[in-house]
Amino acid sequence: MTGTLYVIGIGPGDPELLTLKAVKILRDVPCIFFPKGKEEGISLARSVVEGVIDLSQKELYELHFPMAKKQGNKFSRELTERWDEIGSAITGILAQGKDAAFLTLGDPCIYSTYFYIHGLLQKGSRIQIEIIPGISSINLAFSKIEQPMALADEAFVVIPAAYWESFEPLLANFHTIVFMKVHKVFYQLRELLSQKGLLRNAWYVSKLGMKGERIIADLREVTDEDLNYFSMVILKGRKDE
Ligand SMILES: C[S@@+](CC[C@H](N)C(=O)[O-])C[C@H]1O[C@@H](n2cnc3c(N)ncnc32)[C@H](O)[C@@H]1O
Repeated sequence: MTGTLYVIGIGPGDPELLTLKAVKILRDVPCIFFPKGKEEGISLARSVVEGVIDLSQKELYELHFPMAKKQGNKFSRELTERWDEIGSAITGILAQGKDAAFLTLGDPCIYSTYFYIHGLLQKGSRIQIEIIPGISSINLAFSKIEQPMALADEAFVVIPAAYWESFEPLLANFHTIVFMKVHKVFYQLRELLSQKGLLRNAWYVSKLGMKGERIIADLREVTDEDLNYFSMVILKGRKDE
């Protein structure tokens, strides 16, 4: 019988934010897949779980997912071929009847690389897939700034910061805006927020739950050293009220 793939959200980086369900499954499965963005170096997901789970008796596979950039409105052939390879590697293990876990940082359903291969895994195979939610970096961010994402009739929106230029219309409809993946456009976004008089309504948060965590309530204090991939800007319509 084919094994089950558990796609597990392991939270934003603090091992104490792993769920009980994640820990239980990780203890039980014989194989674990760790995605990583760079070919070299240790997977961040691995470093989160290894203090909690004894990995010495497990089959461990690190899977290199190159950055998913589109060419026009399509992903490159190189990229889709890589996803095919990863999909085959996973189905190969499950076909041996072994259960496996595929780790994702935060929650698997929020901007996770896993979904680039989900369709491939479902296609033409009898794999059982179970997705285990995790605490997203977004959840942790609002806890850290001690603000609600939304209250009563308020609405909130999450956008990749690459769309920073088109955020203005959102301000009319959403009380809270979360800009993910903000590091590459941080200065442009800060300038725009400054022009709109919104600087006092924003927070910069980075490496939440990780070593070097930063929570900066005044965006003017953010410098190059604070900028990294694990960061976001949160804009609240009425921070001052
Ligand atoms: C590809 S998305 C993955 C999101 C993840 N699935 C989640 O639920 O948190 C990566 C982006 O999430 C945000 N992020 C992830 N982990 C973070 C952390 N520990 N601290 C701050 N932001 C984080 C950053 O904006 C980063 O560029």
